[in-house]
Amino acid sequence: MVFSEKWKWVYDMAMIDIKEKPSHPLVAVSILSADFGQMAVDCRDVIEKRSDLLHVDVMDGHFAPNLTMGADMLKGVRKHLPNVYLDSHLMVEKPQDYVEQFAKAGSNNFSFHWEVTSDNPERGASGVDAADLIKMIHDHGMDAGLVINPDTQAQVLEKYLGDIQVALVMSVWPGFSGQKFMPEVLEKVKWLRENGPDAMRVEMDGGVSPETVNDCAEAGCDMMVSASAVFGSNDRAGVIEALHESAKHWWWTK
Ligand code: DX5
Ligand code: ZN
Repeated sequence: MVFSEKWKWVYDMAMIDIKEKPSHPLVAVSILSADFGQMAVDCRDVIEKRSDLLHVDVMDGHFAPNLTMGADMLKGVRKHLPNVYLDSHLMVEKPQDYVEQFAKAGSNNFSFHWEVTSDNPERGASGVDAADLIKMIHDHGMDAGLVINPDTQAQVLEKYLGDIQVALVMSVWPGFSGQKFMPEVLEKVKWLRENGPDAMRVEMDGGVSPETVNDCAEAGCDMMVSASAVFGSNDRAGVIEALHESAKHWWWTK
């Protein structure tokens, strides 16, 4: 099945480099809303329908109130899609424990939450050192991302903007797909896009759909995560196209 003629194109496609300024906002379909019973089939389907990459939502039941998937799922997806960029979003208490596993499984990116770092006064010394973790991720050959929850200010990321490849702004509370987009986080995107280097992507995650994506693009987002809007539609190609079309409202093209 994996090596059949029908799927030959998945071996011919080129891996994207997210550090290159994209010509349109990248679409990162989140596999959290896929049918887990036919994961590879759903992943290939959305890539064929022009999702630029795949977003992998990892939750440990502690940082976020849900259990989702781990490195083994990613490894399975990687086997079927050798050249697709895999963007892992770790909503876990101790991301440092999973860097090696995710690198070995074939993840291209590893994003962790600022809230679990020692910079967060609520964690203090019990949190992980963000600079050390970024270095560890890079040493394992992956791009590094920092994520902020809806109530965390963008400025906490200021000292890392030159080191990270992704700044991810949560527009819902971590836990579940299908939640309502929180427009109040758009201001943070604007600040991150204005202050971050061109080689850094500003990613929006939560409630991104054809209805909300234009506002994200206008604020400066260049990577759009979407789960339920894509998988919940019977016109997945149309939804992905509408997400790309947000380029018309893009901050960068102005
Ligand atoms: C939420 C996850 C999101 C989620 C998005 O905790 O981080 O990536 O899958 O789902 P939608 O697009 O349905 O809001
Ligand atoms: Zn996510």
